[in-house]
Amino acid sequence: MKTRITELLGIEHPIIQGGMHHVGLAELAAAVSNAGGLGIITGLTQGTPEKLAAEIARCRAMTDKPFGVNLTFLPSLTQPDYPGLIQAIIEGGVKVVETAGNNPAQWLPILKEHNIKVIHKCTSVRHALKAQSIGCDAVSVDGFECGGHPGEDDVPNFILLPLAADELSIPFVASGGMADGRSLVAALALGADGINMGTRFIVTEEAPVHENVKQAILAASELDTRLVMRPLRNTERVLNNPGVERLLAKEAALGNTIKFEDIAPEVAGVYPKIMQNGDMDAGAWSCGMVAGLIYDKPSVKTLVDRIMAEAESIIAERLKNVL
Ligand SMILES: Cc1cc2nc3c(=O)[nH]c(=O)nc-3n(C[C@H](O)[C@H](O)[C@H](O)COP(=O)(O)O)c2cc1C
Repeated sequence: MKTRITELLGIEHPIIQGGMHHVGLAELAAAVSNAGGLGIITGLTQGTPEKLAAEIARCRAMTDKPFGVNLTFLPSLTQPDYPGLIQAIIEGGVKVVETAGNNPAQWLPILKEHNIKVIHKCTSVRHALKAQSIGCDAVSVDGFECGGHPGEDDVPNFILLPLAADELSIPFVASGGMADGRSLVAALALGADGINMGTRFIVTEEAPVHENVKQAILAASELDTRLVMRPLRNTERVLNNPGVERLLAKEAALGNTIKFEDIAPEVAGVYPKIMQNGDMDAGAWSCGMVAGLIYDKPSVKTLVDRIMAEAESIIAERLKNVL
């Protein structure tokens, strides 16, 4: 299948694996790229330029296909060494960066100078238009369904994607709620050039996380996610668990007086406990509503091949037959 995204990124299938904290390690990124999609290493999980450089080298040893690095720009007191991380990306020969969070404008000149394609993750059309105007090559449009940070506008993909298609001229991928060939065909029909998946890729053989995480997603339905940190205007969609219930109780009790310090035990430093140790009640971790559509744990290649085969058969048979 050929779309503006496959052409832009030099990949076979229009399927991207979004950056995921403590999930997007070399094993998963390489597996997705080897399957013909675009795998992405999560830069901030590595934290330092030296560790990111080593992870890029590890990924390069596992695939000769293109892969990317996610750089999430967070409002935080102790800023990561973004210039150093970008240097590691450049020196590692990575040609695609997925940016997320704050406006990436200040980092675009150096990325462009090294011929690196930038895909910015946006949860609204106005942010997507901003990304286009500052020179991003593509955007990933994340609907309200998505795992992680859906923003504060709460617009689901059935509205957000056609709005994005009406306004944008650069290519974009549909992100949030994507699981299978039906998602891909729907995304294409709504005007997107491909899909970006997070939660679905966690439940694969290669995802380098504790088995408990995969089983928790398999057991979850579409009703089992919660939105946390809304009072802080830093909304995150997470899988419900006792840690999340403690957090929501604090939010209810403290209302608008709540500060990050109040909920830090349930959100700070939680990812390694969940993803590596499988301590599933440690606190809040991102998960999309699409958990309800995840029924198995295939290899990444089986998953990608299945999505493409299903999409092609929907287009060639189901859609053709309704004409
Ligand atoms: C466990 C997890 C961790 C994530 N971490 C990040 C991150 O560090 N940076 C980022 O830009 N997006 C992050 N995301 C968002 C994904 O890249 C992607 O946009 C999102 O998962 C798409 O929605 P879906 O889960 O419905 O597929 C994360 C998502 C999950 C599920």
